[in-house]
Amino acid sequence: MKGSDRLRRLASYAFIAALVVAVVSCNEAHPNTTLVPHSDLGREIDFLWNRLLLLGTIVFILVEGVLVFIVFKYRRRENQGTPPQTHGSTKLEIAWTLIPAVILVFIAVPTVRTIFITQAQAAPGSLNIEVTGHQWWWEFKYPEYGVTTANEIYLPVGRTVNFRLRSADVIHSFWTPQLGGKRDVVTNRTNYMWYTPDTSISSNVWNGFCVEYCGASHANMRFRVFTVSQQQFDSWVAGQKLPARFGAVAPVAPPGGPIPPSPAAPAVTTQPRAPGAAAPSAALVGAAQSSVAAVSTATVQAGYIFPREKIPDYAVPHSPIPPDLKFTAGLTGNAARGKQIFSSSACIGCHSIAGNPAAMGVTGPNLTHVGSRSTIAAGRFPNAAAYLALWIKNARKMKPEVIMPTLGLDEYDPVLKAKVTAAGGGLTDQQIADIVAYLTALK
Ligand code: CUA
Repeated sequence: MKGSDRLRRLASYAFIAALVVAVVSCNEAHPNTTLVPHSDLGREIDFLWNRLLLLGTIVFILVEGVLVFIVFKYRRRENQGTPPQTHGSTKLEIAWTLIPAVILVFIAVPTVRTIFITQAQAAPGSLNIEVTGHQWWWEFKYPEYGVTTANEIYLPVGRTVNFRLRSADVIHSFWTPQLGGKRDVVTNRTNYMWYTPDTSISSNVWNGFCVEYCGASHANMRFRVFTVSQQQFDSWVAGQKLPARFGAVAPVAPPGGPIPPSPAAPAVTTQPRAPGAAAPSAALVGAAQSSVAAVSTATVQAGYIFPREKIPDYAVPHSPIPPDLKFTAGLTGNAARGKQIFSSSACIGCHSIAGNPAAMGVTGPNLTHVGSRSTIAAGRFPNAAAYLALWIKNARKMKPEVIMPTLGLDEYDPVLKAKVTAAGGGLTDQQIADIVAYLTALK
């Protein structure tokens, strides 16, 4: 094969490979792509990216073209002596100083323009959300409405939202790829970011991430953004503003005695995942959900909640359960008893539940409406009884180095490197099942 043929073939392979990569990575089927923006901020950044990519491509092709041309045209030939040696050329020096300066002007103008647009203050009347990054979860407050939630936000489409970004500990970074960002969340500093979700994306879910390395569970510091209609948002806010309503309907669960588990729904059962299985079986999680549902049906859902069955797969966590973490099968939680246990255990030192005067801690996520959220542990697991039970039992096995202590009796705490004792507040599986029933009822 001649050299030029081989070169041509190699070039066509490289071209096809580049094309495949471009097509695969740029289409809308990739939910976490930043190349399909759905907000004004996203489009501004996309415009800048496209402009710089175009200019960079032109420069690359010109420079590489000239380089390859020179290499071939002036390559060493046989019987050729040393070419004439020169040093310094004022014309050349001026040319290759001026050309980059002109190119920089073309880059600087759109860059500065985008910086001015995205750094401007949000329009008056914007929806304010106070974001606090914690190791490793997100706290969201809607100051106008007195609503505090965690790891999930609802945004009305078409209304500008103004994020006030602060950190409770180390540096994090707030990013929802398809909506806009990313912006650092810096210790002892307040950063701002605003965008307006397009009206076309009502009834959608978006993944959000922490994108600044912030410790052992940095990768487990996620959140969900639900873009909803103004009406749905108003309804959601109305529901979230209410204190936890479980107390009023507590008598549903027979006090003192567990609800007999039905054969179809064997309660807060949970088992280790079979090696290689994609996720805990639907039957397992479904069974756990339905058993707790039996306790919580009396809780009237206060406001709009994004329907769980409409959440696309990309926004549903698929993290594996640690194989050595087990839970007694066949237990049924009693929500009223769970409330008592919760209110007299270590839980209240870290978590608040509006409507439960015992629970006023602020170290961990506010749990007032935890039952209305789709995930737990900052997006690491689905919010289902089976996961919640394991989470309470041994959170540090479920999510490395999490601050939430291990609570299961006789469980090994990987951070404290000790077993949890009864004297140390260890909870039995039945007690955990009760707490799960209580929390799941907090819609
Ligand atoms: Cu927070 Cu990474």
